[in-house]
Amino acid sequence: MKVELFDKKIDDISADFEAILIVNKDLDHKFIKDKDKFDVLNYKGDGILVLPESKRIYVGIKEIEYDKLRLAMSKIYHALKNYNIKSVKIATYKNSNCTKKTYQAMTEGFILSSYEFDKYKSEKTKYNLNEIYISTDEYSDKTIKFEKANLGVKQGDIIARATNFAKKGVNEIPEIYTPKKMAEEAEILASRYERIECKIHGKNFLQKENMNAFLAVNRASVHEPYLIHLKYTPKKESKKRVIFVGKGLTYDSGGLSLKPSDYMLTMKCDKSGAMAVMGIIKGAAELELPFEIHSIIGATENMIGGNAYKPDDILITRSGVSVEVRNTDAEGRLVLADVLSYAQDFKPDLLIDMATLTGACVVGLGEFTIGLLGNNEELKKEYKDQIKDSGELMTILEFNDYLRELVKSKIADISNTSASRYGGTTTAGIFLDHFIKNEYKDKWMHLDIAGPAYLEKSWGYNNYGATGAGVRANLYYLLGLSKECGCE
Ligand code: BES
Ligand code: ZN
Ligand code: ZN
Repeated sequence: MKVELFDKKIDDISADFEAILIVNKDLDHKFIKDKDKFDVLNYKGDGILVLPESKRIYVGIKEIEYDKLRLAMSKIYHALKNYNIKSVKIATYKNSNCTKKTYQAMTEGFILSSYEFDKYKSEKTKYNLNEIYISTDEYSDKTIKFEKANLGVKQGDIIARATNFAKKGVNEIPEIYTPKKMAEEAEILASRYERIECKIHGKNFLQKENMNAFLAVNRASVHEPYLIHLKYTPKKESKKRVIFVGKGLTYDSGGLSLKPSDYMLTMKCDKSGAMAVMGIIKGAAELELPFEIHSIIGATENMIGGNAYKPDDILITRSGVSVEVRNTDAEGRLVLADVLSYAQDFKPDLLIDMATLTGACVVGLGEFTIGLLGNNEELKKEYKDQIKDSGELMTILEFNDYLRELVKSKIADISNTSASRYGGTTTAGIFLDHFIKNEYKDKWMHLDIAGPAYLEKSWGYNNYGATGAGVRANLYYLLGLSKECGCE
């Protein structure tokens, strides 16, 4: 899928089809050329109308807003993808406060929608539609410069492809996508980008580093665990060191606290945090962001067997904190405990971990929303505000001392489960907080992406399966930061 911007009137661009947005049922806009047909078709300007004979599609949109635009582009794509057409053109509007992000969002809408996981289908559907032409039409030099709009298209393309890259890894089956495969994928990524380097650490390293919680989770798996460390160094002097940590459970059976079958299904998605941090570093390199960025992943399976770690075990983590294991299905926080400890050795200015950590997050926030946790209320608010235009949804959750009580253990420093069945996302966050050193308490945020990371029912511009949750939000955040420090 290729999106191209033209500094031309829409009528001067040739394409197989034209898409026209109807903003807030305004049927009198000059782009609307089939108004005479609307009456008999009972089309009032909301929803979709395809007119094959005039080769035009109309899509109603309440207002020109970034995420509504993504959604509208997605509707256009899905309505036309089965047609035997190659290209569609669409214009941007005067009344829309057009910005660079308008073009960015439109581009993302098309590219995100066009991703489908069909690797294992013997018969793959081949869509001819793969070229989108965006016209600046009503937008001339006076409103937004072509270069700026074109930058939006370019960045939207990078961000959406980084997201699709993450989806691809998450969708791959657990038999194929083992920790080793994830490590290989990281190495391939590093080999493709001059400014990304990759270090892979195996079991010996984890032993040497006393990552006993990470190792315990891995023990019953036939696949070796890997700590994957990607680093992007910007061309210009770096303004900040941002470290992302990803939960890379290539499969989560629950371990001896085995998941019921219904809940185990889809647990190939437990590597979504890992794939997201890989997608982010890929995107960051292509966007040439002015920050030193690390993506550090704990990759393993959580399986059963005679040598499995057990409820009742006590693990001494890398940082020395002892953890009572009360449920082997709360494994993500164990892996993250050791990986977060390792990540802080690299002195982050900002430390963000991403994980499909708790079912409670899906129950509490629904399937569409990421949980945003951490000690620094200001930072969380700022972050949430910055990522708004990405279209990803986030809810801030707060720690409190009553919830802190719940992860205490009678026989170790902490327990890997809460004493209460309620507030599971926050208590998981509080567990992680035990592994954040004082100097980084205010620099750390935890994103629980369990809800939106994987879909069994598509929504918006996210098709069935992985969504690449967290990639867009963080790339938007980093782009925003680069603007803030004047180093765009
Ligand atoms: N990987 C799961 C969480 C999850 C649930 C991810 C649904 C995606 C969708 C995690 O390892 C887990 O099993 N958590 C337990 C924790 C509990 C045992 C304290 C949970 O949420 O049930
Ligand atoms: Zn689990
Ligand atoms: Zn898990």
